[in-house]
This record gives sequence, C-alpha cells and structure tokens, in this order.
Amino acid sequence: MITLGIETSCDETAIALYDSDKGIIGESIYSQMKMHAEYGGVVPELASRDHCLKIIDVLKDAMGDHSLESIDQIAYTSGPGLLGALLIGESFAQGLSSALEVPLIPINHLEGHLMSPIMEFPEISMPFICLLVSGGHSMIVDVKAKGEYEILGQSQDDAVGEAFDKVGKLLGLPYPGGPHIEKIAMKGNSSAYDFPRPMIHSGNLDMSLSGLKTAVLYTVQKIDDLDDDMKADIAASFQKAVTDVLIAKIKKTIDQTNRTKVIIAGGVAANKYIREEFRNLESILNVKVYYPDLKYCGDNAAMIAFVGSMMSPLKEHNIKSKVRARWPLNELTK
Ligand code: KG4
Ligand code: ZN
Repeated sequence: MITLGIETSCDETAIALYDSDKGIIGESIYSQMKMHAEYGGVVPELASRDHCLKIIDVLKDAMGDHSLESIDQIAYTSGPGLLGALLIGESFAQGLSSALEVPLIPINHLEGHLMSPIMEFPEISMPFICLLVSGGHSMIVDVKAKGEYEILGQSQDDAVGEAFDKVGKLLGLPYPGGPHIEKIAMKGNSSAYDFPRPMIHSGNLDMSLSGLKTAVLYTVQKIDDLDDDMKADIAASFQKAVTDVLIAKIKKTIDQTNRTKVIIAGGVAANKYIREEFRNLESILNVKVYYPDLKYCGDNAAMIAFVGSMMSPLKEHNIKSKVRARWPLNELTK
C-alpha cells in the first residue's frame, strides 16, 4: 500500500511517498527558512503564500518516476501548526484525493515526530520515552503504544528550539539561531559563564527556559564590545546549561518509568553536542538512545506518510476542514 504524506504546518513544504513493503520511496522538502530569516522568525502569511507557490514542484520532485495512480491514500498534517499553512496542505490533499479517488487521513504533526523513529529503526518496539524538542514544543512523552501517549513533562514557557533562537538573536546570529549556536559553541568554553539551570531540581519532569534566556540577556547587556570569542563562550555555556537540564529530566524519567529506550526527536535533536551527551546516558542508565537521521529531525513529510500508513482512512471523502492550530497529543481522538 502506498501512502502520500503532505506536511505544511510551518515553514517546510514537504511531500513523501511511503510504501508499506519498501519504506520511503520518494521524498522532497522545500525549506522557507531563508525567506523568514530576513524577518527574524516565521511570518505566517508569507509561509502560506510560499506553500502555495512551491507545493506542486515539491509533489513532482517527490513522485519521481512513480505515477499519481500508484497512490492508495493521502495523509496530511492537520495540526498543530499555523492555520493558514495547514489549510494549504489540506486543500491540496483534498484536491488530490478527489481527483485520484483515494481516501484522506488527517495526521497530528507531533505524532509524526513521535512515531518517525520506528520508521527508521524498525527494531524499536513500544514502549519508549521520547524527548520531543523543537521550535514549538519541548516535552517528555511516554509512548506506550500507537495512539497512547502520556506527556510526563513539558516546558512551562519557551520551547528549547525557541530558547536557542532567542539566544541566537541576542548574539546577533541569523535565524534560526539553533544551528548557529551549535557551530560557534564548538570554539567556546562551556564553563565560561555559570548560567542557571531552571527547574533542574524540581520534583517533576517539567522544564523552564525563559529564566536561562533572560540570564543570557543580562550577561550580553553588561558587555560593551561583544567579540566572537565571548559569543562562542556564551553559546557554549548556554548550550551546556540547556543540555544539563534535559539530561537531568531524562534521568529522572528513566528512574520513574524504568523504560529502556529513549528517543530524541524534533529540530533540536540535530544538535551534535546534545546527541553526544545523550549517547553517554546509554552506559550510565543502561538504556538505548536513538536519534533520527539529520534529515528527519526537523519537519518532514516522511513521518506523516509513515503515521498515515498505520491509520485507517476517513470512511468517506469529507470536505469538512480538519485543521487545528492547537491539537495536544492527549486529545488525539477528539
Ligand atoms: O522541528 P523543527 O524543524 O520545527 C518545529 O519547530 O516544529 O525545529 C526547529 C527548531 C528551531 O528552533 C531551530 O533553531 C532548532 O530546531 N534547531 C536546533 C538545531 N537545528 C535546529 N537547535 C539546536 N541545535 C541545532 N543544531
Ligand atoms: Zn515539528
């Protein structure tokens, strides 16, 4: 069975083709990052317009030599995300589904991130713990079974990626700051600044990052001539503080749940320093740690097509919109 996946929840226009026997057989992704960088963040109106402009080329690229007639069903991200951007993906999915007379499956974007490691590592069986860290979400989820997700802890304010991006801005780095912070941090001293590790000793699995970001702001404000060496030291110290919090929370999670597998997903999972620090947990906690391939850390359609292949399509073609800006994992059935 072949499932076409469509992802347009934020600033990536992505389409992928998943074959239940062979895995991903075609995929294409267009990132709008450069366009939004000019504004220092994603501009929703521009995102919707650009999805419109690029989606047909992305489809052609993803299809390669495969014919549209080979598609058995269409899965698309219906939330959470930017409403206008989601609507472009949904309208496109509806048009294709009517033309090809194939069923439609609305997919929760977060479920895509949670399930994608299974697509890449078929040996992973549930249950497992997933640390989902992206620009919009930071949560620790107990993935018990398909569709059964318990959020054990989450950020009370900024998402981890958001904190990276805000600190990037403070250091004068281009948007999004995450990858740039990682790059300059390689030359920095991570002990140069003793930034706070908010909520590291709180009794629960929740996190908070806005205090850390504010500490970086105060540090930067006190420096008259912020040179590249200082920026590198601040980036390295900030990255270490964030990582220390994430590691402490995952240690606590394993302690509480006795799970033996930990998966890191979402855009921040591309960070090599964080990946290495988590790798060390394997021997300390006797767990196995998995990360997605770099191309599947951020938003992509392969994960949407894959989750679609595990779901039952809507019973009948339904043109009523299913998009939702907000769609928490614990409301999947609603
Ligand atoms: O999952 P994603 O592509 O989009 C959503 O937010 O859903 O994540 C993007 C976030 C951005 O905040 C970006 O700065 C962050 O992931 N990110 C990183 C790295 N690469 C991307 N943060 C830290 N280190 C990186 N290497
Ligand atoms: Zn995402």
